[in-house]
Amino acid sequence: MRKKPSGIRKWMLAALAGAALLGGAQAWAATESGEASKRKDVVQVGDAVCTRCHDEGEAKPILSIGKTPHGTMADKKAGTCTSCHGASPTHINKPSDVTERPEPGINFGKSSSTPIAERNQACLNCHQGGARMHWQSGPHAAADMECASCHRIHSQEDPVRDRATQPEVCFSCHKEQRALVNRQSHHPIKEGTVICADCHNPHGSAGPKLMARDSVVQTCYTCHMEKRGPFIRTHQPVTEDCTICHNPHGSNIDNLLKSRPPFLCQQCHEPSTHQGNIASTTFPANTTNNNTLARGCLNCHTQIHGTNNPLNVGNERTFRR
Ligand code: HEC
Ligand code: HEC
Ligand code: HEC
Ligand code: HEC
Ligand code: HEC
Ligand code: HEC
Ligand code: HEC
Ligand code: HEC
Ligand code: HEC
Ligand code: HEC
Repeated sequence: MRKKPSGIRKWMLAALAGAALLGGAQAWAATESGEASKRKDVVQVGDAVCTRCHDEGEAKPILSIGKTPHGTMADKKAGTCTSCHGASPTHINKPSDVTERPEPGINFGKSSSTPIAERNQACLNCHQGGARMHWQSGPHAAADMECASCHRIHSQEDPVRDRATQPEVCFSCHKEQRALVNRQSHHPIKEGTVICADCHNPHGSAGPKLMARDSVVQTCYTCHMEKRGPFIRTHQPVTEDCTICHNPHGSNIDNLLKSRPPFLCQQCHEPSTHQGNIASTTFPANTTNNNTLARGCLNCHTQIHGTNNPLNVGNERTFRR
């Protein structure tokens, strides 16, 4: 907890009205006859207790929160300044025995001394459900990030929730992914068609690597439905994890492949065991036709993600048409 200046107790009793504000709109109504109510709320029900000092004159825009869903006075669930920042009695009325005005009860950003978990709890009090269900166990929480590391609360523009600007916010920390999406084969992320949040839930996930769905394959299927099948013959690595063969962010090899056939395939399939030794062992020393053929595993095994050709059992097994 933040250190509080001594001798503050008596003052805090006087600020009882401030504490009552914690409850938001309703509590505010109860203090209608109090001193602060002489001032009008500006953007949120009960904000006068803060906006008597924090107004348009601020270097950083504060009242522009009125243009966001949090600043909708008609929405009873939207809360008020103190729902996020805490009642802040010593901040509202600086105790006479301290030189510097104490921070509000809950402060955000770099200058804050509020423990990170408390800052996030202030938001999670209203937002724990749904997409934030796994926040606490996620890697961003583990890395001591706060909601405001990504979100801009006081401004109408929240770049992380705008498809056009979201990748830039993520790239500011994830430099490796910035490099990958610039490779020749990539998801159209730069082009704005696919964004990070299509595959990742930055708040936390039941799956690996913050996957938006419970697994990698389920996440990929949301757009590449045809790869789900159902197939009569499935290829084991495909049903297991698409990233065994693909780099989802980018690659210099076509089709986002991690390596080129035959190497891609020969990580698992012995070249020497192929029927008729077609994908024979002499590669790369030998550059004859035999090898040219062998490199093109996909020339023959065209249905690498699975097949349901019912005509020929042999064909089904080997992912040909
Ligand atoms: C009596 C005037 C006054 C009132 C009332 C007031 N503040 Fe402040 N607040 C200030 C001043 C002055 C600063 C700048 C302090 C500084 O820069 O050291 C400030 C700074 C802040 C900061 C930034 C702190 C930081 O570390 O950067 C936040 C957040 C804040 N106030 C929130 C609130 C909230 C929420 C309320 C209502 C519960 C409120 N204030 C009520 C005067 C006030
Ligand atoms: C939904 C939560 C929320 C509400 C409601 C809210 N704030 Fe904030 N406030 C934040 C966060 C988070 C920050 C950190 C900067 C940011 O992300 O925009 C912040 C920053 C501030 C700052 C510091 C700005 C700076 O960077 O110097 C002040 C002052 C402030 N808030 C005052 C208020 C006042 C006054 C109200 C009521 C009108 C209010 N806040 C309502 C979450 C909130
Ligand atoms: C008192 C409850 C409350 C608190 C506390 C609160 N929010 Fe909200 N928030 C809402 C409501 C209500 C909405 C309107 C949309 C909705 O119903 O989800 C909203 C909307 C949002 C949105 C979507 C905005 C949009 O344009 O659609 C974001 C992002 C958000 N909140 C983040 C935060 C963060 C970050 C904090 C903490 C700094 C926070 N909220 C604290 C109630 C709250
Ligand atoms: C790593 C960046 C990041 C962090 C940290 C983060 N968010 Fe988000 N948040 C996003 C992105 C991206 C979206 C848009 C998701 C989408 O478009 O599907 C979003 C959307 C939201 C929304 C509105 C849409 C919805 O899912 O209801 C709310 C509310 C929200 N975040 C709350 C929070 C809260 C509360 C925290 C802290 C516990 C938090 N966020 C931390 C990136 C972040
Ligand atoms: C098409 C789906 C998809 C998109 C879009 C996507 N990712 Fe990923 N991301 C994945 C998958 C799958 C993994 C896990 C496998 C891997 O690391 O290759 C992953 C892993 C990661 C990792 C962890 C890497 C590691 O080595 O542990 C980070 C960080 C990441 N992504 C960031 C981003 C950012 C930032 C964006 C947006 C620019 C983004 N991703 C867009 C699918 C995607
Ligand atoms: C302020 C820095 C920061 C921002 C902004 C940020 N991240 Fe992260 N992210 C981290 C850190 C730190 C980790 C912890 C793992 C690590 O060492 O990379 C992480 C981990 C991840 C992982 C790997 C999860 C795992 O299980 O290994 C993914 C995926 C990811 N972030 C996606 C995103 C996406 C998508 C965005 C934008 C919406 C984003 N991040 C924004 C700092 C950030
Ligand atoms: C939000 C939708 C979406 C999701 C989710 C998605 N993709 Fe894609 N994918 C696309 C789009 C759009 C293209 C580009 C199609 C085009 O250019 O015709 C694409 C293209 C590809 C390509 C071909 C790239 C090339 O160079 O031609 C591969 C391979 C691919 N995706 C694999 C994956 C994998 C693996 C996953 C899961 C980690 C995944 N996709 C998740 C939308 C998605
Ligand atoms: C065993 C390696 C392997 C795995 C695992 C794999 N792929 Fe592929 N994928 C390939 C190869 C090789 C290509 C090149 C296309 C071709 O020439 O047939 C490809 C091409 C693609 C393409 C672009 C061309 C097309 O067929 O639409 C998409 C999209 C794609 N894969 C999605 C996925 C998804 C989604 C998964 C997981 C469900 C997945 N892949 C798993 C090897 C694999
Ligand atoms: C991560 C390992 C892995 C990679 C990479 C891989 N496969 Fe497979 N493949 C398997 C497994 C496991 C089976 C199932 C073997 C079985 O059922 O006996 C299989 C089955 C097959 C079969 C059918 C064999 C049979 O007897 O039913 C063919 C054909 C095949 N793979 C071709 C390829 C090609 C072509 C590539 C490269 C594009 C490739 N595989 C990449 C693991 C892999
Ligand atoms: C000229 C066409 C052709 C090429 C090129 C080719 N294959 Fe095959 N593959 C076949 C045929 C035909 C079968 C056998 C079908 C059957 O027995 O029903 C087969 C069978 C397989 C099998 C099943 C088990 C086995 O070994 O017989 C695997 C695994 C396989 N191929 C992998 C590969 C890989 C990896 C490559 C590239 C290095 C490759 N193939 C290149 C046509 C080809």
